[in-house]
Amino acid sequence: MTVLDVRDLSVRFRMRGGREIAAVTEASFRLGPGECLALVGESGCGKSVLASALLGLLPGNARTEGSALLGDLDLLAADERTLARTVRGRRVGLVPQSPAAHLTPVRTVRSQLEETVRELTGVRGRVLRTAAEAAAERAAFPAGHLDRYPHQLSGGLAQRAATALALVGDAPLLLADEPTTGLDRDLVDRTVDELRRHADAGRALLMITHDLAAAQRIADRVAVMYAGRIVEVADATAFFGAPGPRHPYARGLLDALPERAFTPIPGMPPELGDLPEGCAFAARCPRAAAGCRAVPDLADGVACHHPHPAAEEASRA
Ligand SMILES: Nc1ncnc2c1ncn2[C@@H]1O[C@H](COP(=O)(O)OP(=O)(O)OP(=O)(O)O)[C@@H](O)[C@H]1O
Ligand code: SF4
Ligand SMILES: [Mg+2]
Repeated sequence: MTVLDVRDLSVRFRMRGGREIAAVTEASFRLGPGECLALVGESGCGKSVLASALLGLLPGNARTEGSALLGDLDLLAADERTLARTVRGRRVGLVPQSPAAHLTPVRTVRSQLEETVRELTGVRGRVLRTAAEAAAERAAFPAGHLDRYPHQLSGGLAQRAATALALVGDAPLLLADEPTTGLDRDLVDRTVDELRRHADAGRALLMITHDLAAAQRIADRVAVMYAGRIVEVADATAFFGAPGPRHPYARGLLDALPERAFTPIPGMPPELGDLPEGCAFAARCPRAAAGCRAVPDLADGVACHHPHPAAEEASRA
């Protein structure tokens, strides 16, 4: 079963002087119920733009192509009214990057939860209080803190409050964009484990992060983005364990980790407004060869002309 089916999603921003920014190019992936896909990649590679495209939250100078089916609804073709009334909150729950900014500063968590419950479920009157408390509990937000204002919460509790709001509508798809930014490692682990529980309860979870340790902890599958393209989609166990990533960029990301080789990838990613021809990673790639002047397709889970061997090939070698 598929909850979300994204096919050839591209996003272009039109800039002054006719310049175009290729923020996302031909991204394709599927997500099933109970499954977590971690979308990883360096800052600026297009992760949040992809998420905004799915939620219909792109600015006016953006143009999208492709499709993103949520059930039988194409999120890219849906009008704003449909997205506002039936999608955001109801069919897609957003766990935001910055919970403190997402919560209204002048209202208590209880009042914000009650309002969202009323809006999304129609519950009113005395049951509203109980329903809001149940929503808080689902995100492990302590009842004793419900009457606090956002600035009175720790980073971890603000994150839980934002997660509680995202869960109210019982959306089958949860989209978490960098939900652990700014949290210490212990809180990262707790937040990630809570999100995992929501996936285990049957939701599809798209977790956007540049924290590979968090991705390893939570994901069933990993999608790696580079310069707007998904360059590898892999089973998380094979990706983080043996035989490891197949795409040279994905391998470079893991090798850059302090707990691994601690060797940074040389150079910088290209400008999305001025992409080179062929494979966008070629200038930084230790495996680049003449054939890399053609853009590689995402075939068999990896977009590379000279990938590292897959599990079967590695065991034969
Ligand atoms: N409204 C916009 N107009 C023009 N370009 C934009 C706009 N929004 C984003 N971009 C560009 O799109 C590219 C992708 O940005 P995006 O925010 O998706 O990166 P990201 O992968 O989420 O990075 P981070 O890890 O820092 O959150 C960037 O080059 C950014 O400058
Ligand atoms: S296509 Fe070529 S340049 Fe690009 S990642 Fe693969 S080997 Fe490197
Ligand atoms: Mg982002």
